[in-house]
Amino acid sequence: MITMKKKITVVGSINTDFVVTSDRWAQPGETIIGRSFQTTFGGKGGNQAIAAAKLGGEVTMIGRVGQDVFADEYLNNFREHRVKTDGVEKVDTSTGSAYITVAQQDNSIIVVPGANDYLQPEDIEEYQELLKNCDLVILQQETPADTIEYVVDYCHRHGVDTLLNPAPAREIPQAVIDQVTYLTPNETEFALMFPDQSYEEACAQYPKKLIITLGSDGAVFNNGQEHINVPAFVVKPIDTTGAGDTFNGALAVAITSGMDLEEGMAFSNLASSLSVQKFGAQGGMPTLTEMRLHPDYQDHWNLS
Ligand code: RIB
Repeated sequence: MITMKKKITVVGSINTDFVVTSDRWAQPGETIIGRSFQTTFGGKGGNQAIAAAKLGGEVTMIGRVGQDVFADEYLNNFREHRVKTDGVEKVDTSTGSAYITVAQQDNSIIVVPGANDYLQPEDIEEYQELLKNCDLVILQQETPADTIEYVVDYCHRHGVDTLLNPAPAREIPQAVIDQVTYLTPNETEFALMFPDQSYEEACAQYPKKLIITLGSDGAVFNNGQEHINVPAFVVKPIDTTGAGDTFNGALAVAITSGMDLEEGMAFSNLASSLSVQKFGAQGGMPTLTEMRLHPDYQDHWNLS
């Protein structure tokens, strides 16, 4: 049984999601009547922190929130899920926000970074001990690019593993690709980063590092010998928001618990298939108990 609880630090965004559900997409210039509106907790960083914590990870968050009610609500949310907030500070602006439409079994998102943009490289100096003493650092791309580059470089120099989820898509310096331990683009992000390569070619170039998530087609990587597709658990989604975040948070728990990458990807596929069956980025993220009770849970995953 794998019982070691490993330390995961998330450097990333914290957003309030303003979510509208609708039967279809509004076209530019068109007004349509929606079905519902809710505010939920989101941000790729916050989502991945909560996903990992719900699955038993010991998680610390580094990020920025604003001076508003959304900040206090989110800090309570972190506390309720036992995510440590030693690295979260308030800055004099609004908390990050995302404007999400859920329609036709998909979503579209506009993010306004707000406080997330205030996490600058010089702020990271204060967290060097925290970074040095954790087992895995997870990052995404809703915080400034130079902050991500600083953290990846710092961790690389100090032998700390990093997992970069390059979402939302933007170009990444080659040095970052070389220095990260794991890189987890989805199809869109992959196409921007590796425009001239097939999945097979790119995964072979970065074995055991590049993991491409393909939604209902599962996830692919190269194990050092061959290209492997780890199939998805196909379900009927209610809300796909945060599915990628659940995958990444779960993968962090799997890796730091000693699972091999292929098993970790299967575990993460199951977690994200559960997450899409409820509303909200964090609403459907499973706990470890929910995972273990699921008929597709593999006993040899052995997480406790
Ligand atoms: O990945 C989903 C997240 O993207 C949402 O929660 C939203 O806040 C945006 O950051």
